[in-house]
Amino acid sequence: MRKNIVAGNWKMNNDLAQTEALLSNLKKQTKTSNAEVMVAPTFTNLYHAFEALRTTNIEVVAQNMHFAENGAYTGEISAAMLKSIGIQTVILGHSERREYFNETNPILAKKVNAALEKNMRIIFCFGEELSHRKSGNHEKIVEDQIKNALFHLKAPAFKNIILAYEPVWAIGTGETASPDQAQQMHAFIRKTLANQYGQETANNTSILYGGSVKPDNAQEIFSKPDVDGGLIGGASLNANHFFEIVNAF
Ligand code: PGA
Repeated sequence: MRKNIVAGNWKMNNDLAQTEALLSNLKKQTKTSNAEVMVAPTFTNLYHAFEALRTTNIEVVAQNMHFAENGAYTGEISAAMLKSIGIQTVILGHSERREYFNETNPILAKKVNAALEKNMRIIFCFGEELSHRKSGNHEKIVEDQIKNALFHLKAPAFKNIILAYEPVWAIGTGETASPDQAQQMHAFIRKTLANQYGQETANNTSILYGGSVKPDNAQEIFSKPDVDGGLIGGASLNANHFFEIVNAF
C-alpha cells in the first residue's frame, strides 16, 4: 500500500557507542508522525538497534544482504539471518553497492527474489549518474534499472517493494534534484510501472526520493504528488535533523 516513508541510511557510520547515542536521541522524539519511519544501521549494530527501538514506531532495516540462503560466502549475510533477528525490510541496489561492490541489475534481481521468498520488504534503489542526465539519457537509464531488476516479478510482489529514486550526482554532494526534477522522474517511474503492471499497482507503490535531503528542503520535495518520502543519508545521523525531515510530512 502506498505510504509516506522516511528512511535513514546510516551507511558505514557509527560504532556501538555512537549508535547507542543516536538511538537514545531517536527515542526522545515523541511527536507522532505522518510517515512510516525507518533507520538502517550497520550490520554489527543491527540487532542492538532492533532491540533498542522495539517499543517505538521506528522500524530497523538492513542496508544490504546476499542472495544465497547460506553457505560459503565469507563476509555475507542472508535474508534468513536478518529475519531471525526480527528485520523485515532490506535496502537493495544502493548506488554505493552498485559502484564499489559491482552489484549489477542481474545480481540485484537475485537479491530481490531472495528477499521476497522470505517475505521481506525491499527498498529498491536506482538512479542515473550526472553524465546520463547531461546527455538526456536519465529516463532510459532509470527505466532499464527498474526493468532489469524488477520486471520479472508479478504484480502482487509490488506490495513488498518500495522504490527509491536516488540520482547519483545528488548523493552526499549537497546538490539535490530540484523538486520539479524529482517530480518529473517520479511521475515517469510511476508511468513505467503502470505500463507494465497497470495503474493500480503503480498508484499503490511508494516512490521515495534520495540525495541530499535536508531539513530545509524536505518539505518542498515531499509536497510533490509523486514523491512519497525520502531515503536520507547524511542528515539521518543527527536525530533532530532526521525528525525535522520526518515531520516535513
Ligand atoms: P545523502 O544520501 O542524503 O547523504 O545524500 C542519500 C543516500 O545515499 O541514500
